[in-house]
Amino acid sequence: MTGEYNQAYEASRQDPQKFWGDAAKDVGWFEAPKTILDDVNLPFIKWFPDGTTNACYNALDRHVDSGRGEQLALIYDSPVTNTKASFTYRALLDRVSRFAGALVAQGIAKGDRVIIYMPMVPEAAIAMLACARIGAVHSVVFGGFAANELAVRIDDVKASMVISASCGIEPGRLVAYKPLLDEAIELATNKPTCCIILQRQQAPADLLSGRDLDWSEVENSEPVPCAELRSTDPLYVLYTSGTTGEPKGVVRDIGGSIVSLNWSMKNVYGVAPGDVFWAASDVGWVVGHSYIVYGPLFNGSTSVLFEGKPVGTPDPGTYWRIIEEYGVKVFFTAPTAFRAIKKEDPKGEYIKKYDLSGFKALFLAGERCDPDTLDWAMDKLGIPVIDHWWQTELGWPACANCLGLELLPVVPGSPTKPVPGFDIRVLDENSAEVAAGEIGVLAIKHPLPPGSFTTLWGNDQRFVSSYFENFPGYYETGDAGFIDENGYVFVMARTDDVINVAGHRLSTGAMEEVLAAHPDVAECAVVGVADAMKGQVPLGLIVLNDGVTRSTKEICLETIQLVREKIGPVAAFRMCDAVIRLPKTRSGKILRATMRKIADGEDWKMPATIDDPAILDEIIEVLRGLGYPSV
Ligand code: COA
Ligand code: AMP
Repeated sequence: MTGEYNQAYEASRQDPQKFWGDAAKDVGWFEAPKTILDDVNLPFIKWFPDGTTNACYNALDRHVDSGRGEQLALIYDSPVTNTKASFTYRALLDRVSRFAGALVAQGIAKGDRVIIYMPMVPEAAIAMLACARIGAVHSVVFGGFAANELAVRIDDVKASMVISASCGIEPGRLVAYKPLLDEAIELATNKPTCCIILQRQQAPADLLSGRDLDWSEVENSEPVPCAELRSTDPLYVLYTSGTTGEPKGVVRDIGGSIVSLNWSMKNVYGVAPGDVFWAASDVGWVVGHSYIVYGPLFNGSTSVLFEGKPVGTPDPGTYWRIIEEYGVKVFFTAPTAFRAIKKEDPKGEYIKKYDLSGFKALFLAGERCDPDTLDWAMDKLGIPVIDHWWQTELGWPACANCLGLELLPVVPGSPTKPVPGFDIRVLDENSAEVAAGEIGVLAIKHPLPPGSFTTLWGNDQRFVSSYFENFPGYYETGDAGFIDENGYVFVMARTDDVINVAGHRLSTGAMEEVLAAHPDVAECAVVGVADAMKGQVPLGLIVLNDGVTRSTKEICLETIQLVREKIGPVAAFRMCDAVIRLPKTRSGKILRATMRKIADGEDWKMPATIDDPAILDEIIEVLRGLGYPSV
């Protein structure tokens, strides 16, 4: 060990202003910041408040100006459509600055909000960068969300425009986006006046005259230059799940994002300008924002944008084919993808088919990484496999084995140590720090580093009450865990009603709101249960109204359909059953935490597969055996 990690971590803790002031010198500014941090109004902090810059400039123009114009910026690989394409920095700049011109021609100006509801196509990244170029605030909505969720976001962010595509491609089915978009606009109170639609040949959509424009007809507009923006201006709003059904609009600023993501590419991921980096996620999630689009491009690296699944497109060797074909040096995905591959290729036969000599490290995040998956990946790949922990709110890893600083020993079950900038502590309910090895709430001491969220869109009060009120002086992560005597952090579980399904963050509260709206349902609870493939899946338990005589099965199937319609297929809500009553406290509060504990396997281990309806009976049995609901 070189001690470089400790040195950097201590430097960031002792003098955050010096540390991040130095990091800020590595990126491009119109006006370099003189003030590094303004933290007079905690928890609202401002990084680089008097600096002016532009995220698109840092992602594209800066690299073309410095001679990287002919290097690849973006590689698109879509086995589900049999398409491959690549863009040099110069070509991407041309596409982005022209599309930015199209936005301006449609009246989009600095500060306007633009929703992007797209599958994994290069145009999604082009749309994001075009917004950044002119100072419009993008809000990307994941394609697996239903019309209702899209409508909620259109209303909350008060979008002036939606950029979408005619369809997305999921295994065995085409997802027609346009009818979902039309329905969302119908449902929304704030109606965007213009939509730009990318027509895909797999399923072109009918355009609504006067509102919808065809991407191909507007994209070749006059290019526009980068707007000079304040570091503290919003770059984007990204909605994420909280305890209630109302999603939280995480706001990220421009300067903080540029400095932190640029720093993390080199120091966390060990990726240099010119290296090929691949994050197999989706632009609808924070990983897609930070490490498919912005981070690699800020750093002058080449990013891979992948449309497909790890298995079945065409076989479990797709990831390895891509790593070999493009010379990927560092790859990032969720453990669930590895569990899917391991299931289909337990011996790693497909791994052996490819030359992976250029592949140096695998990073996993998005959910707890089970030691089995970690061991399998390390054994079959023979490279460092690094679990790292972060959240939409934080924007980049809070805890990792910082490969670019030095590789620390990998400890299975731990995402290693706090990343410089994140002063992580474990607290009890009185905000006192607990001893090493003791479980408590994972909290981060002020100030959060650059790149963390600056507020919730239009809701400063919820920002304060959700994250900063319970533990004064700290950001409350919503995760519980411990730090061992060697300083390794262990993330154990959420402390709220958020669950993690196939690396996708979902709110059980939102699902409960949907179930409760069913006319035959008196009350309900949704809890996450352990699942061998997806980590967790939701289980709904409903109590029917007195006098309901319809079949329970029929009602449960209706609730499953309702969640799909209202939240979307991504909720993966497939298990529901009726019970006579739910476990409650004396004052009538449903014992969700207790149910979660039981269902999550602390008192009982979930069987390996969830496809079997008998499992539900088993869970009910266990609940009954433990004296909970009388079912
Ligand atoms: N648009 C429309 N529908 C989508 C979608 C999208 N962008 N993404 C997922 N869905 C649908 C799926 O088709 C599926 O629908 P179904 O009920 O009709 O089968 C449903 O949402 C659930 O999707 P998912 O939970 O992802 O399950 P899956 O079986 O389709 O795939 C994995 C499982 C593990 C292969 C996949 O989740 C994966 O590759 N995950 C790892 C990478 C990742 O995205 N991580 C996130 C953050 S790092
Ligand atoms: P998201 O905001 O979608 O990135 O989800 C963040 C949540 O995912 C965290 O609060 C954790 O509960 C969980 N999570 C992410 N990465 C990890 C990890 N490496 N280990 C354990 N949990 C994780």
